[in-house]
Amino acid sequence: MEYIAISQLNDWKNKKIKFPAITAYDFSFAKLFSNQGIPVILIGDSLGMTIQGHTSTLSVKIKDIEYHTKAVRKGAPNTFLISDLPFMSYYDTKTALKNTAKIIRSGANMIKLEGGKWLIEIIKELSNRSILVCGHIGLTPQYFHYLGGYKIQGKKQNDANKLIDEALLLEESGIKVLVIECVPEKLAEKITKCLSIPVIGIGSGKNTDGQILVMHDLLGITEGKIPSFSKNFLSESGSIQKAIQKYIHEVKTGIYPSPQYSF
Ligand code: KIV
Repeated sequence: MEYIAISQLNDWKNKKIKFPAITAYDFSFAKLFSNQGIPVILIGDSLGMTIQGHTSTLSVKIKDIEYHTKAVRKGAPNTFLISDLPFMSYYDTKTALKNTAKIIRSGANMIKLEGGKWLIEIIKELSNRSILVCGHIGLTPQYFHYLGGYKIQGKKQNDANKLIDEALLLEESGIKVLVIECVPEKLAEKITKCLSIPVIGIGSGKNTDGQILVMHDLLGITEGKIPSFSKNFLSESGSIQKAIQKYIHEVKTGIYPSPQYSF
């Protein structure tokens, strides 16, 4: 696969070409996903659940993300890698800069932060140093206790307006990609149209620029029930390679997520 840079994601946004993304945490899956043509991989703090077996992302440490980013980069040398800054690893600007350096040195192209207004100064400082930053709004798993669980966000008009304002503010502060998780399709569509940067959705309908799924959900190997917006692509495909091909095809053509997998 050719080297994927942020300019490629911008180009897809401008040309309205939808792109798939997936989480990965190790060398072998990163290699498989990259060989199948997945252009964007997230080393997500979802590894707290999928790899470490916890019930939330809150236990994940910066050294975990460093370790998994290094492994993924070895397997996917040309893929655009986004790595999460985990819970409490960016509570102030100095800490965010220090931990971002660790993640970029481990091989990430971009770091991802969860939240809204309070991140403005941190995002500006990172952007001023030419660090690529991805925002993450809607259902933000690091706010699990505050949100009272993993629930759809932005259903009420006030909450929807707040998310639109947050998205615009984050873009103005310097983020170069936005992830929106678990919001109604219409709201995600509106935010995607308002922003000039690529917007990647998860559980947010089919009208975002890109889609992302947690690999364990996509392959149907998540412990317990997979989220209602996730689709088990492996059950209909017969091999992991074919499941990934199907995912890529369905995202690019807008088949996934159909209304069954949207709010
Ligand atoms: O940690 C993660 O895997 C994520 C995705 C759910 C977007 O943030």
